[in-house]
Amino acid sequence: MAASQVLVAANRGPLSYSLGTDGSLSARRGGGGLVSGLSAALARQPDALWICAALSDADREAVRRGVSEPGVRMLDIDPTMYDDAYNGIANSVLWFTHHHLYDVPREPVFDAEFRRRWASYVAYNEAFARALAEEAAPGACVLVQDYHLALVPGALRELRPDLRIGHFTHTPWASREFLEMLPADILSQLTWGMLGADRLGFHTSTWASNFVGGATRDDAHGIADAFFPRNGAAGVHHRRMTADGRYGEKRFTEVTEYPLGVDADELRALAHRPEVDGKLAELRAEVGDRRTIVRVDRTELSKNILRGLLAYRELLTVHPEWRGRVVHLASAYPSRQDLKVYRDYTAAVSELAAEINAEFGTEDWQPVLVSVQDDFARSLAAYRMADVALVNPVRDGMNLVAKEIPVVSEAGCALVLSTGAGAYEELRADAVTVNPYDVTETAAALHAALSMPEPERAERTKRLAAAATALPPAAWFEAQLSALRA
Ligand code: G6P
Repeated sequence: MAASQVLVAANRGPLSYSLGTDGSLSARRGGGGLVSGLSAALARQPDALWICAALSDADREAVRRGVSEPGVRMLDIDPTMYDDAYNGIANSVLWFTHHHLYDVPREPVFDAEFRRRWASYVAYNEAFARALAEEAAPGACVLVQDYHLALVPGALRELRPDLRIGHFTHTPWASREFLEMLPADILSQLTWGMLGADRLGFHTSTWASNFVGGATRDDAHGIADAFFPRNGAAGVHHRRMTADGRYGEKRFTEVTEYPLGVDADELRALAHRPEVDGKLAELRAEVGDRRTIVRVDRTELSKNILRGLLAYRELLTVHPEWRGRVVHLASAYPSRQDLKVYRDYTAAVSELAAEINAEFGTEDWQPVLVSVQDDFARSLAAYRMADVALVNPVRDGMNLVAKEIPVVSEAGCALVLSTGAGAYEELRADAVTVNPYDVTETAAALHAALSMPEPERAERTKRLAAAATALPPAAWFEAQLSALRA
């Protein structure tokens, strides 16, 4: 049995496989911000093991054939169970709860179908806990990632009480009102699953204190008491109830914020590859000498792309002087298209952009250029030419785009930033901040950002970039690992 000292568990792995027509398997780097951040951090931990789920048929085939890369173990999880856990619970229930996305007159509905899916979510978390228990050396450090795996710390502690267990949440943590929409026994499982960890990490103090505030007494399953000290880390004191109805040992879970930032050198190097130069030339030809408002997101409900477009429309209506003088570059690449609500949202984004173009466009000016391709090079090119960055999520764990654009923009950019983004805590002083629901305020903010004098824009961009790079991925990971070891 292998014995790793440092283990990471995340739904998505650092690579994914594809099956050729001849049946051969090839590996390529997996996508997403969590993956690139963690990959960079783990590059400095050569002996670490990353446990992830097989996401596709090709991934599962690789597991069955015993194909693997060093430092990675993929779990072959039954596809139906995986779909229930990932789409049915993680993305449809936990994501919606933490981002406050429910359309409350109709949702959520916790019925027998929900219970069936929840059982899959539990089994999927247990599969991760078993694999970690098998692979971990005595006293090893395990860093579990995100809402997909919220029950892993508790399940793993039962199997391996010797391990040092950390968990990091990349999303917001829901306010108590939203958490308490969950059935009481489910919320209790979620809380106790998380409290299996020695340390819990969040991007911001707001998400951390939401967790601490939400994890209060639950006499049916044990006692947990929120702990907000005057100095030092917050946390939760707890005693879990054992199967025979007695309270187990008293434990303490420390809760800390680790605001993930970007690696300036790496990002600038990526943004100046020849491929990006090529895309930049193409975009410049399309935009001409007009100003740019740039946004880059997964087509994700929480990103608030529709209200962003409505604000741009209001800008062009209220400030006709910008007509013909600005272009909105909106990258909204597909995400979670297995879920109907995401497919509908993606269609609505394209429709609204087309309406704006029909309403205001002229022969030589297209007001909105939407790109639905997941084209990282084009996004980086857009970053470089951004005059204004629009980051207006209704609620977001951090939002790294808000941190990346100031680092890469060539002429300095004005950042229009939602109060709902985790990045707001660190960047608010130099951003033009907006209530994400207030379209009129957002339109006014776009106008202010477009009109910001050059020297002020340059000064603010410098400070935004400094704040954005305060805790790059490798340091973010190291900080959690050394706290866990201490
Ligand atoms: C969020 C989550 C990440 C996830 C990413 C992409 O940022 O916090 O864990 O990797 O979304 O979502 P996906 O469902 O495509 O993995």
